[in-house]
Amino acid sequence: MKVHNFNSGPSILPESVMEQAAQAIHDFNGTGLSILEIGHRTTHFQEVLQEAINSVKQLMNLGDDHDVLFLHGGATTQFMQVPMNLLDENATAAYHVNGIWGKKAATEAALFGKVEVVADSTDKQNTYISKDFAVPRSAAYLHITSNNTVEGTQWHEFPETQVPLVADMSSDIFCRPADYKRFGLIYAGAQKNMGAAGVNMVVVRKDLLGKVNRKIPTIMDYQKHIAAGSLMNTPPVFAVYVSMLTLRWILQEGGLEEMERRNKAKSALLYQTIDSIPLFRADVAKEDRSLMNAVFFLNDPSLETAFLEACKQVNMIGVKGYRTVGGIRVSMYNALPLSSVEVICELMKDFASKHG
Ligand SMILES: Cc1ncc(COP(=O)(O)O)c(C=O)c1O
Repeated sequence: MKVHNFNSGPSILPESVMEQAAQAIHDFNGTGLSILEIGHRTTHFQEVLQEAINSVKQLMNLGDDHDVLFLHGGATTQFMQVPMNLLDENATAAYHVNGIWGKKAATEAALFGKVEVVADSTDKQNTYISKDFAVPRSAAYLHITSNNTVEGTQWHEFPETQVPLVADMSSDIFCRPADYKRFGLIYAGAQKNMGAAGVNMVVVRKDLLGKVNRKIPTIMDYQKHIAAGSLMNTPPVFAVYVSMLTLRWILQEGGLEEMERRNKAKSALLYQTIDSIPLFRADVAKEDRSLMNAVFFLNDPSLETAFLEACKQVNMIGVKGYRTVGGIRVSMYNALPLSSVEVICELMKDFASKHG
């Protein structure tokens, strides 16, 4: 029976990507070897890595000022690696904190330099994106979380800044077109819109590097990774391969314009359904609602268990809200078909007619 996968990450991937990845485990491109057994310095893998890098550059319309890296570790590693490379001990970085992941990023950065939290939306339980904030001109960079996976908010217009803009795009990477050239650094763990867990993508403007005074451990040094072409040590070969397939899929489907069109259609349907049924309530400010993660509640919390059970009955997974937020969270990443959203919307209507 079909499973409707609303997992927040690792999450749904395109069917064709899974088929090709499964095939490559048995025989990678007719080599007689599994993708799990090929050497990372072979031309086979170099072609995979190069295609992944080229696809990122094409999708984001990046020029030579930016480099694309595929590195180990989840986005959490980047919470440390970004300040290690960009923030001197006595310098200050500005952090825009509207959710738990941004808070964690700021906490890690404070281990390396000074952190000024320039925005905080806890007055309304992180249900909006703070737009009224000032960034010190002397800040090394401004860090934002483009999509707050847990709270269900998303930046729809990125802030104008005098200082380099750094973004954690783990949960909305490649969901829409934007002017990516103006970012100093973008990072994302792959396991939502880009592939399998175990690899990070980092896009970095080269002129920002090499400016801090501290000694950076080799494996943490972006410049050394650039010099080694993401092959300083053994990369997560399979995870990079799945990212390459997913990036190829995005391009074949019509690129970021098409991803955005689909994501808008799915999220519009879900939010319209939430808004039209009095049994449900979404607290996130309408203009900041995420295309990727919709967070909502049952006005009568005692019905939540019954609703989750109804979802389970029709093979929907991943709809329980994050433990600190509660309620329901429906993640609608690029690969989620509109039909899955239609099914949950029908279920919500049906549930309301029985319990409303
Ligand atoms: C926005 C955001 N940043 C960072 C992370 C942490 O990623 P990882 O588990 O890959 O370290 C997540 C995980 O869901 C996330 O959603």
